[in-house]
Amino acid sequence: MKKTNVAIVGMGTVGTGVARLILDHGDRTSRHAGRTIWLKKAVVRDLAKPREVDLPDGVVTDSLGDVIHDPEISVVAQLIGGLEPARTIMLQLMESGKDIVTANKALLAEHGPELFTRARELGRSIAFEAAVAGGIPIIANISQCLSANQLQSLEGILNGTSNFIVTQMDERGASYDDVVKQAQELGYAEADPTMDVDGTDAAQKLAILAHLAFGATVDWSDIPKIGIDNLDPADLQYARELGYRIKLLAVANLADDGLELSVAPTLVRIGTPLAEVRDAFNAIRVVGDAVGPVFYHGLGAGQMPTASAVVADVIDTAVGRTKLTFQTLEYFNIEQPPRVKLLD
Ligand code: NAP
Ligand code: HSE
Repeated sequence: MKKTNVAIVGMGTVGTGVARLILDHGDRTSRHAGRTIWLKKAVVRDLAKPREVDLPDGVVTDSLGDVIHDPEISVVAQLIGGLEPARTIMLQLMESGKDIVTANKALLAEHGPELFTRARELGRSIAFEAAVAGGIPIIANISQCLSANQLQSLEGILNGTSNFIVTQMDERGASYDDVVKQAQELGYAEADPTMDVDGTDAAQKLAILAHLAFGATVDWSDIPKIGIDNLDPADLQYARELGYRIKLLAVANLADDGLELSVAPTLVRIGTPLAEVRDAFNAIRVVGDAVGPVFYHGLGAGQMPTASAVVADVIDTAVGRTKLTFQTLEYFNIEQPPRVKLLD
C-alpha cells in the first residue's frame, strides 16, 4: 500500500488529538485514503514536557528542520495557535514543498490573503476545515456542497467557549469566572480566552465564512462585535422569563445594499434550533436560493471533534482532494463581490 508521511507541528490540545486519531485508527484512515497515513514527526517546543499520547520512538523532535528537510514528509498539520511564529512556520513549510492542514483561524483571518497567494504561487494547498466550527464540516459544505446556490444568509454560534459559558451560567447557575476556567481545562478556550469571550474568535470565523459564502473580502477587525464578557446573570434570567435564551450569534446577511456582518449576544426564542444549542456545541443556519435553509449542529471546540476535521483534511490532502477547497479560493477574486456594510 502507498504511504503518505505526515508531520504535526504543535502538540497541544488539537495536535494530541490528531496524533491519537492517526496512531490509533490507522485502519480507518488508510481505508478512506487508500494509502497508509503515517505520522513521521511531531514537532514540540519542549521535549521534556509530558505528552498525553505515546508517540513511537523517533517521532518527537524539537527541530522544525527535521520536517522541512525531510522530502518524504508531504503533509503537515500546523497546529500552533496565534500569529507568530505560526505564520513564518507555515510559509517555511510551504516553501519546502509541504501541503498544509491547519485549525488556526486567527492566522487565516489575519494573513489569509498572503498565505493563500503564496500557496498558489508554490502550487501548495492549505486545508482549514477545523478552523471554523470544529467538527462541523461547514467549509466543505459552503464551498463545495452548496456551490450551486447564491447564499442569502448565514447565522451561527461559532464559538464553543462562549456557548459553554452562557449555557453553564444560564442553566446551571455557574459563576462566570469558574466556567471560563472550566472551558480552559476542557481544552475549548484559546490560549488567551479573551479572544473567545469578547467576540474576536467568532468574528475571525465569520470573516472566513464570508469569504467562502459571499466572496466578500472583509477585515475581521472591522466586523462590529460584542462579546459575552459583560453579560450579567440577570440578563440571562430576564431573557428566560420572556421565553428567550441569549446566544452569541455571528450573522452574515446579503441585503439589497450589501453584506451585513455582526457578532453579538442575541435573544433567541426557546424551542428554536439555535436556542437549544448547548455547551461547546456550535450551530450554523445557512439559507441558499436553491436549497432553502440548512442547519448544521455539532461540537465546535474540543480535542477530538477538532482532530476529526484536521485528520479528514490530512486524508483529503494525501489523495489530492483539497484542490477543491483550494480552487474555491480563486473565488476571492470574483469580479463583483458584494459591498460590505459595516453596521454600527
Ligand atoms: P494549545 O493547546 O495551546 O496547543 C498549541 C501547541 O503549540 C502547544 O503545545 C505549544 O507548545 C505548541 N507550540 C507553540 N509554539 C511552538 C513552536 N514554535 N514549535 C512547536 N510547538 C509550538 O492550542 P490548541 O487548542 O491545540 O489549538 C491549536 C490551534 O487550533 C489554535 O490555532 C486554535 O485556535 C485552533 N483550534 C483549537 C480548537 C480547540 O478546541 N482547542 C478548535 C479549533 C481550532 P507548549 O505546549 O510548549 O506551549
Ligand atoms: N476557542 C474556540 C472555541 C475553539 O471555543 O470555539 C474552536 O475554534
